[in-house]
Amino acid sequence: MILVTGGAGFIGSNFILDWLAAEGSPVVNLDKLTYAGNLHNLAALQNDARHIFAHGDIGDGELVGRLLREHRPRAIVHFAAESHVDRSIHGPADFIRTNIDGTFRLLEEARAYWGGLPSAEREAFRFLHVSTDEVYGSLEPDDPPFSETTAYAPNSPYSASKAASDHLVRAYHHTYGLPVLTTNCSNNYGAFQFPEKLIPLIILNALNGKPLPVYGDGLNIRDWLYVGDHCTAIREVLQRGRCGETYNIGGWNEKTNLDVIHTVCAILDELQPAATGQPYAALIGYVKDRPGHDRRYAIDARKIERELGWKPQETFDSGIRKTVRWYLDNAAWIHNVTSGAYRDWVSKQYGAEPGAVS
Ligand code: NAD
Ligand code: TYD
Repeated sequence: MILVTGGAGFIGSNFILDWLAAEGSPVVNLDKLTYAGNLHNLAALQNDARHIFAHGDIGDGELVGRLLREHRPRAIVHFAAESHVDRSIHGPADFIRTNIDGTFRLLEEARAYWGGLPSAEREAFRFLHVSTDEVYGSLEPDDPPFSETTAYAPNSPYSASKAASDHLVRAYHHTYGLPVLTTNCSNNYGAFQFPEKLIPLIILNALNGKPLPVYGDGLNIRDWLYVGDHCTAIREVLQRGRCGETYNIGGWNEKTNLDVIHTVCAILDELQPAATGQPYAALIGYVKDRPGHDRRYAIDARKIERELGWKPQETFDSGIRKTVRWYLDNAAWIHNVTSGAYRDWVSKQYGAEPGAVS
């Protein structure tokens, strides 16, 4: 048994599906079901007794303590977070509450539970904290990629809150000996990603004939990691990672945002040409830049390869093709998530007209 937090979100749901297929041991999934949490992601597990869903907040110590005592997990895999940089700029409070305070409460309950375990179980227990490369700040074009020893320099309320949570996790190991592992990964993409993030937003806007909003000059660089590769990496770290260590996980796929958008458009042109006869790239439009927009992220993923033998299996070309196809094949899922709350966000972020570009 393991306890997963945030398992109804994008990466967490992919992880649970992957875990049950690969490892098979049961999962308790604690999720608050914020706008980003969607149990439809786990519809395939509807009649699967190995998935136990608990609706609640990681900050609710009483609930977390009860779940730990009842299910006696051998590990906690902590995904739950507020995860969208633009939302953190509009309203940082939820990021502080969940990412910092929530992680603190979870750590406290984990410490109490772990401290009371018999020695063999205590020895085997792990707390795996899922974090981001954004804690390292922004790279110049010629800088080497982020390694595990790069100094923290978070620039957004989101990355600052994740950095704070990483420090708490580190301190719980150093001070109390809690057997923690931290992973810092690059931008994920794949099935079940909420369409506020770049790749699904571009796919959905293109299919709806809406403008494709490029922030600034579109030359910001991200290192894209296919979510399936990320899930495999987390399993490896959980199984064989050294306690107290951090592992950077990346795709070795540095791309400018314009490259990504043009690639998505070209695949859509091939798989589902627009009724207008125009290439989808004709919808590209430049909008006001994100305040404090980090220029470049890139991950040096050699440590996890060296120590645990993990490296990504997907190239960007293979992963993005699978991803576009998944969105084309899952119209019902898209219909379900593009509800009123999502439309409100789009008009707040991009202007009164959903999808309008300035
Ligand atoms: P997501 O926003 O899709 O999902 C977050 C999940 O956490 C949702 O199901 C939500 O309901 C749940 N949640 C939020 N607040 C909660 C709370 N207080 N208590 C319980 N559940 C709560 O996020 P994601 O993209 O799946 O990211 C998962 C983790 O990976 C996050 O910690 C994020 O910081 C990290 N990460 C993500 C990316 C990426 O590209 N998506 C990159 C690097 C790191
Ligand atoms: P995003 O998916 O929000 O991830 P992050 O900010 O965590 O890297 O954005 C990825 C990149 O795409 C980032 O440089 C911002 C840019 N972007 C756009 O140009 N337009 C958009 O509408 C969105 C959502 C993002």
